[in-house]
Amino acid sequence: FFRPTNHHRHQLGSAPLSSQVLSTRRELYERDFPLYKQPVEVGCFSLDSQRRFFNDSRQLRYYVEPDRCPNFDLRDGYKDRYVRRDENVKERLDHILRWIVANRSKLKSRASANSSCALDVDFVTWRGHLTKLLTTPYETREGWLLAVTRFNGTLYISEVETEAARQERENRAERNKEMMYWGYKFEQYTCADTASSSPDPRGVVNTNEAFCTVVQTRLTDHQLLFSGEVDCRDRDPGAPPPPACYVELKTSAEICTPKQRSNFHRFKLLKWWAQSFLPGVPRVVAGFKDHDGVVVSTETFLISKISQLIKNEDNCWKPTVCMNFCCDFLSYVKRIATEDSPSVVYLFSWEPRREVTYSVHRDSQYTFLPRWYIQEMTS
Ligand code: A3P
Ligand code: MG
Ligand code: MG
Repeated sequence: FFRPTNHHRHQLGSAPLSSQVLSTRRELYERDFPLYKQPVEVGCFSLDSQRRFFNDSRQLRYYVEPDRCPNFDLRDGYKDRYVRRDENVKERLDHILRWIVANRSKLKSRASANSSCALDVDFVTWRGHLTKLLTTPYETREGWLLAVTRFNGTLYISEVETEAARQERENRAERNKEMMYWGYKFEQYTCADTASSSPDPRGVVNTNEAFCTVVQTRLTDHQLLFSGEVDCRDRDPGAPPPPACYVELKTSAEICTPKQRSNFHRFKLLKWWAQSFLPGVPRVVAGFKDHDGVVVSTETFLISKISQLIKNEDNCWKPTVCMNFCCDFLSYVKRIATEDSPSVVYLFSWEPRREVTYSVHRDSQYTFLPRWYIQEMTS
């Protein structure tokens, strides 16, 4: 009944649609929820303990519901049974591109005379990059840099680490390093390697290992192909097909006061909702941990129920603002990134309390599509 037109948007003070910058002000994105097609899994891949790519589900694990009163020590094994992925290695979109090359026949070619190798999608990216876009109107601390290349008509979006993020990573406090391990340790307590086996908390936690789903969907007029890491699936063989059988695992500080509950709703649930809503993962299992890293309770959150849960918070985040901002950002990218060339990067940049801006770079340090991919997709 109320669909803001451009006229209305101007009344709200938005920039003209042809602007070179994009506003992130929440009020501009409070309109009807945009069309978001049910995401369809078109494939998956696995990364093994040495970060090697496999075009299959060998790393998929099975969720095993914990006892009513769990007592999971997340600190166990940090010193002696932890293999940490090397964060200095920048993988960019490489694993997704490998998946695309291995599955080209599944991705219908665009019926176009002069570009027979083109993919039938507008955007290729990681789910995590889209999560950052969804939460941008509410983010007050961390900015982002997104590199975009148009190649054969498809826009590839790959994150570039900001200087602030690099500094934070290199100066990370010991306590923070250990807490990053806790989330993976929780996965080990709740996941088994097969549908009929049990979790093995005596094993090694290796963060090179990953199972990733590849989904296709559409946000208004944007055809999207993206991949995201999935923690585990429902072990019941009668569970619905992917992505509806997938389960996201999270840990969070125990909630003891109304203030803590409010903060959990306002900040944690926003991130959790954005991450799982995008690929159509229906539930998050939260492990609540005490200060010493012991999980003392778990609770299941249905993504479809989160918007109800937060409705009582004043001034809370809104799913529609997240999705409309993402949609408008993608339209902005389509409008700006017009030159079709694998060596050209449009670098979109955002800092809290600012607008999104961009710069253009030719044959620079930002070029990210690998030669092998360009060759495969050109021949
Ligand atoms: P928690 O989210 O339970 O803390 P994911 O939840 O996306 O599957 O990620 C698994 C774990 O990786 C997280 O578990 C956390 O331990 C670690 N992790 C992921 N992203 C992180 C980040 N930006 N900063 C710190 N730790 C992170
Ligand atoms: Mg995960
Ligand atoms: Mg998780």
